[in-house]
Amino acid sequence: MTSRPHIAIVVSTTRQGRFGDTPTAWIADIASRRGDATFEVVDLRDYPMPFFEQKIPLIYAPVENDVARQWAAKMASFDGYIFVTAEYNHSITGVLKNALDHLYEEPQRKPATFVGYGGTGAARAIEHLRNILAELHVATLKHAVHIGMVEMIGMLREGKQMTDYPHLEQSAVPMLDDLVWWTVALKQAREAATR
Ligand SMILES: Cc1cc2nc3c(=O)[nH]c(=O)nc-3n(C[C@H](O)[C@H](O)[C@H](O)COP(=O)(O)O)c2cc1C
Repeated sequence: MTSRPHIAIVVSTTRQGRFGDTPTAWIADIASRRGDATFEVVDLRDYPMPFFEQKIPLIYAPVENDVARQWAAKMASFDGYIFVTAEYNHSITGVLKNALDHLYEEPQRKPATFVGYGGTGAARAIEHLRNILAELHVATLKHAVHIGMVEMIGMLREGKQMTDYPHLEQSAVPMLDDLVWWTVALKQAREAATR
């Protein structure tokens, strides 16, 4: 019997006044009500690493930069991931791409899903992120939460809150159900694997 899986909620933006805190707190609250997994917010603000400048590729040597090493160790400690992602110029943020470039084996054979926010619910950024994560051997799942422009404007300009949009929680629940299922399945498979 495997222990309860531990899942990261990764915040993808670092700018002052970011909106990202709102969906992060919201999904963390919904996730905390579950008994089948534990969840922890990982904020890229806490890992201010330089742009990737590693001399030896990560396939041959561990990451050299101290902060990047802490980030990689943190990501290694999880069994699955939720990326709370903005959309910057139709893709993910530079800070998230740079952080992912500092990983190699840490997220391998683990599942990931997404809470996106932006004009199209960050659909374009999420699709880019799926491709990036494929190279890191991450299994990305079908379900995601897409917080669109109507909801964002409601929250930014009209004083509304995430809970004023119950359809978002309706899409978060099957996403979390699926993520926990895959997280348990892949955790067991990793623990049983000999290579
Ligand atoms: C550099 C930049 C590029 C952006 N590009 C897009 C975009 O391509 N599509 C979109 O829907 N929103 C775009 N936006 C608007 C963001 O969705 C919005 O600013 C959001 O709040 C960003 O997340 P953050 O507040 O957590 O940084 C962009 C914002 C910035 C700062």
